[in-house]
Amino acid sequence: MTPMPDTRRRLGVCYYPEHWPEERWALDAAQMVEAGLSWVRIGEFSWSRLEPVEGDLRWDWLDRAVKTLGDAGLQIIMGTPSATPPRWVLDKYPDMLALDAYDQPRKFGSRRHYCFSHDGFRDEAVRIARQMAERYGRNPAVQAWQIDNEYGCHDTTRSYSDAACAGFRNWLSEKYGQIDALNAAWGNVFWSMEYRTYDEVDLPNQTVTEANPAHWLDFHRFSSDQVVAFNRAQAGAIRAVTDAPLIHNYMGRTVEFDHFAVGADLDVASWDSYPLGFLEDRSDEGAVWTKRFMRQGDPDFQAFHHDLYRSVGRGRWWVMEQQPGPVNWAPYNPSPLAGMARLWAWEAFAHGAEAVCYFRWRQAPFAQEQMHAGLLRSDAAPAPALAEATQVARELAELPDVALPRPRVALIFDYESAWAWSVQPQGRDFDYFRLVFEVYRALRRSGQMVDILPPCVSDLSDYAVVFAPGLMHWPDGLRAQITDHKGLCVVGPRSGSKTDTFSIPDAMPPDLPAAQVLVERVESLRADAPVALEGGGAFHIWREEISGSATVLERSQDGQAAVTESGNIRYLAGWPDPVAMLRLVKTALLDADLPVIDMPEGVRFADAGSTRFVFNYDAVPVDLGEIQGLKATQILSPGDVAWVAI
Ligand code: GAL
Repeated sequence: MTPMPDTRRRLGVCYYPEHWPEERWALDAAQMVEAGLSWVRIGEFSWSRLEPVEGDLRWDWLDRAVKTLGDAGLQIIMGTPSATPPRWVLDKYPDMLALDAYDQPRKFGSRRHYCFSHDGFRDEAVRIARQMAERYGRNPAVQAWQIDNEYGCHDTTRSYSDAACAGFRNWLSEKYGQIDALNAAWGNVFWSMEYRTYDEVDLPNQTVTEANPAHWLDFHRFSSDQVVAFNRAQAGAIRAVTDAPLIHNYMGRTVEFDHFAVGADLDVASWDSYPLGFLEDRSDEGAVWTKRFMRQGDPDFQAFHHDLYRSVGRGRWWVMEQQPGPVNWAPYNPSPLAGMARLWAWEAFAHGAEAVCYFRWRQAPFAQEQMHAGLLRSDAAPAPALAEATQVARELAELPDVALPRPRVALIFDYESAWAWSVQPQGRDFDYFRLVFEVYRALRRSGQMVDILPPCVSDLSDYAVVFAPGLMHWPDGLRAQITDHKGLCVVGPRSGSKTDTFSIPDAMPPDLPAAQVLVERVESLRADAPVALEGGGAFHIWREEISGSATVLERSQDGQAAVTESGNIRYLAGWPDPVAMLRLVKTALLDADLPVIDMPEGVRFADAGSTRFVFNYDAVPVDLGEIQGLKATQILSPGDVAWVAI
C-alpha cells in the first residue's frame, strides 16, 4: 500500500559526507537535529566514491553515512549521481560529452558534462540509479529521492553532438512521417531548404545566417523531450523498488526544457532558490533596483518560482536548496541582510512548500565552491544562517495553519513560447519569461496570490481572471477554455500569433475569434522610443496595430487602440511598461471584482489558509498599518516576517 504523503512542513539541509572525515558525521548529524532540521540530502555528486572504477561498487561508506544520519533521526533524500559522471565513464564513452553551439566539447572537470541524447551514458546513469535504489530503496531512513541535479543548469539542455543529431532525425521522422510533411510544415520551399530524406536534416546551429525558426523550435522541443526521457528512465528504475517520492531540483529562470513535462513523471517538484545570486545574475531591473534589493533579493522572483513549481509538482513542492549566505557564482556575491535566511524559508512555506533545505551544511574549504557559505563555516563554527534556520524550525513547531494557497488569479506559463520568442524575438528585448514575470509582479503588487498554470490546463473555472500574455499558439483546448471562461481573460501582446509549426496563422493573430480583434501589423520598439498611453505609462519593447469590432478601452496617445474588450476577453496590443502594467493589471482585477491591496514595492504577502504572512523585502522598516486592506498593524523591520489571522 502506498503510504500517505508526509506533508508536514519541514526544514532540511544538503550534506556531503564524502567531503568530511567519517569521525565527524555523527556530530554533524547531532547538530542538524539540534538545529531542528528533519531532512538531509546526500549523494548527488558522489559517483567517483561509489564506483571509482567500473563495476567496483563501494557502498560501505554510504551505508555507514545513511546509518549515522538515520540513527540520528534524520530523513534522507538520496540523490542519484548522474550530474557528475566520473572520469572512467568518459573513457568508456568518449562521445558522451555535449557539444556547444560552436561544436566545441563541454569537457570533463566540472559537472553536467553529458549529452542527454547519448544512449550509452543514459544506460549508465540508469544502471547506477537502479543499483542505488536496490541498495537503499527499502531503507527506512531514505524517504525521498532526487534524480540527477538541476537539469539544464550551466546551459546544458541543448547539445549539438552526433548523438543529438541522430536523435533529432529520429524524433522528426516520428513526428512528421514522410519528409514532405516536414518540408511543408517548416516552409522549406523558402531559400530552397527542402530535404529529400531525414538523413539530410542537420542541427540548426552553425548556419550562415539564421536557420528556419521552425527548425529551431523543433530542435528545442526535441531537446526538452530528451530531458524528459532521461529523467523518466531513472524514475522508472527507482520506482520499481520504492514508494518514496521522486523529486528533481529545478532552477530559477530556466526555460530550456518543459518542466511540466518532466514533473509529470515525478511526485514532488523542487527548486534551488538563490535570491541574491539570481538578482545579480538574471534580473532585468537594472542597477538601482539591484542595489536596493542586493541583500534581500527581488521581492517577486522567489514567489514566482514557488507558484510555478507548485504547479509543476501538482501541489507538492519543496525548496531543495536555499541560499544561506553569500554564494560564489554571481557577478557580485553580497551577504544577506540579517533575517533573510529565515524570511526566504517562511515565504516558501507560505506558498505551500512542504520542505525547505538549506544549501549546504558546511562550507567546503576546497574546490569550486569554497567561497559559498553554508550553515557552518568551513572550520565547522556556526555561520549566521544556522541561528536563523534554528529559529524557523522552532517557529514551525508553533505554526498556525499553512494550507495550500487558493488563488483566484491564473497566469499561463508556456515553455514553448519561451523557445519561440528566443528564436524569433523580432526586437532584442522581447523575452517571454520577462513578460510573464512582469505581469506576475503587477499581480503581486496588487495583493494577489497567483497560480501559474501550463497551457494544457484542464479547468480554469476556479479563476476570476486568467492572464495569457505572449502565448505563441493556442494548444488544443485552451482556445475553447478561454472563449468559454466565465471570468475575465487578458491576452496579448503576441498571444496566438503563430501556429504550432511556427507560421503566421491563416486567421491572423491573435487567432482567437472571440477577442474580435485582428493584428494588422507589429513593431518592436527601441528602449528610447516608448509609446505613451492615454491612461498613463507606455507600451515599450513591442506594440501592435489592431483592428476589429471589440470595444476600445484605451488608446495610445497617437490614437491607436491599445486595450480592447469583447465579452470576457481583454486584449493588450503591446507590452506595458511597469507603470502601465500595474495600472492595467489592477483595473482588470477590479473589473473582475477581486479585492486589490496596493502593496509597496518591497513588501509582499501570501495567504495560506487562514493565515496571512507578510514579508519585508526592503532595507527600511515598514508600518503595515498604513497598507490599506492588509489587516496587519505591526512595524515590520527589514528582512522580517509577520503573520496574522485573516
Ligand atoms: C546549485 C547546485 C549546487 C550548488 C549550488 C551553489 O545550482 O545544485 O550543487 O552548486 O548551486 O549555489
